Amino acid sequence: MPPEIEQRIARQRTFAIISHPDAGKTTITEKLLLFGGAIQMAGTVKSRKSGRYATSDWMEIEKQRGISVTSSVMTFLYKGFNITLLDTPGHQDFSEDTYRVLTAVDSALMLIDGAKGVEAQTKKLLEVCRMRNTPVMTFINKFDRQCRSPFELLDEIEEVLGIQTSPITWPVGMGSEFAGVYHRQTKKLRIFKEGADRKEFDEVQLTGWDDLLLDKYAIGTWGAQFREEMELLEGAGSAFDPESYLGGLQTPVFFGSAMNSFGVQEFLDDFLRYAPGPLPRPALERFVAPEEPKLTGFIFKIQANMDPAHRDRVAFLRVCSGKFEKGMKVNHVRLERQIKLSKVMGFLAQDREQLDEAWPGEIIGLYDTGLFKIGDSFSEGEPLNFTGIPHFSPEHFMRVRLANPLKTKQLEKGLQQLTEEGATQVFKLQSGGLVLGVVGVLQFEVIKFRLLGEYGVEGVFEPVGYQLARWYHATDLKVKKDFESRYVGQVAIDVDQKPIFLCNSPWDLDYAKEKFKGMQFFANSDHIPA
Ligand code: G4P
Repeated sequence: MPPEIEQRIARQRTFAIISHPDAGKTTITEKLLLFGGAIQMAGTVKSRKSGRYATSDWMEIEKQRGISVTSSVMTFLYKGFNITLLDTPGHQDFSEDTYRVLTAVDSALMLIDGAKGVEAQTKKLLEVCRMRNTPVMTFINKFDRQCRSPFELLDEIEEVLGIQTSPITWPVGMGSEFAGVYHRQTKKLRIFKEGADRKEFDEVQLTGWDDLLLDKYAIGTWGAQFREEMELLEGAGSAFDPESYLGGLQTPVFFGSAMNSFGVQEFLDDFLRYAPGPLPRPALERFVAPEEPKLTGFIFKIQANMDPAHRDRVAFLRVCSGKFEKGMKVNHVRLERQIKLSKVMGFLAQDREQLDEAWPGEIIGLYDTGLFKIGDSFSEGEPLNFTGIPHFSPEHFMRVRLANPLKTKQLEKGLQQLTEEGATQVFKLQSGGLVLGVVGVLQFEVIKFRLLGEYGVEGVFEPVGYQLARWYHATDLKVKKDFESRYVGQVAIDVDQKPIFLCNSPWDLDYAKEKFKGMQFFANSDHIPA
């Protein structure tokens, strides 16, 4: 019998769904929870129709706008597996947070609207998965509606996203003539029936794709078309190769209709069969294997004021190795000190229950009293610094000042905390004044709202002409000084006191590089020489 940690690792799957808004992420999340019995959940899954919001639509702004700003964690059990689904913020403006969530998963599900094909947000998110070689499965949704031809969709995925596709299931018809999906490995035809909360579907065992029994179920000419398509696939399509999938080179594709819970179970069953459990994680020092006995982990997200009644901050930590036990002491690597993990949150429905233990791949919530930052690493043994949490150069800027100048302290505190959460970046101009930098413009509104709601500060936001930001460094101090006097209104320091150049255009940056040869510019602050 393998030790408990190995059993736990074998049973753990941690993943996220990537998609463009409206592809059906909320819907498929609900169906996954339905199949899993939704034993534990705390999520952004919302019942839009009834106008109710689930527990983790924490923030007022989410309720007002009907969008999910924050990501959250849902855990459910299915066929003996512990499945952790990290929800990614759906709105396209919140990509930075989404990117960070992707650093904490072992695989992803790409959800595509069958009528629309590959959309902008999916493209961006898949790029992040590819950067990290994250294995991706694909679910093409909404086949109960008129969709594009499956071949056209696969071609688009291959061309636009640059990843090989291998269909595991194949649709028979679509829209009002959608008869079902055929599983190419099991040779089973699952018959489509409408119904939102349906878990059971009729199934027919065929001898193969050319079995004429299919015509009993196919509508109109779809049976003949299905066979033609299958013939083409057998000849020219790529066979499913688990190794290529695990290497992030090939994506197995499933077709269905999330709204009708249809095709979801096929995905879930194959997901458990092929998707990786907790993988080794890179740290500066070495790779950390999940079965190592000592606890290690890193923070990929901080969420303030999850519950207005508590007014707290929670840091989300992914367990990378070992076993977490309530009350244990770990090394907070950045602060070089031991901390006790006594108040820890699990992600159970409704209440934030205290958690007693957690295993590799699982996510725990740490109540934060200001000790944590995104990217922080924790270790029960040697100091280890986990890598790979991306930092992005902001793309939108606003100057912020106070409506009431007496509230400077609250403004600074609010901005400091929002920066630690990764909601914004704050730059202090050398010429005076504060500039906020974000990746998505909607973040400005969130910040304004939260400054007022949580810190009682009314910020006045004014447009500025900056378009991009670069951290800078020069070994020759004279060059640095000359550069800074030439760009007085454009040089600032970030919260870590690192100097940054706020450029008015990409051309502005090129010109500065040309003029000040000794200067180095960085899109990521971690790359600045010490
Ligand atoms: P998101 O989280 O990715 O933004 O998408 P969401 O699940 O909210 O789904 C977006 C819309 O697509 C919803 O319609 C949803 O009902 C619909 N949808 C999801 N899956 C399917 C499917 O398999 N077939 C069809 N035909 N539609 C699907 P809505 O009108 O925006 O909201 P609602 O009133 O239906 O809740």
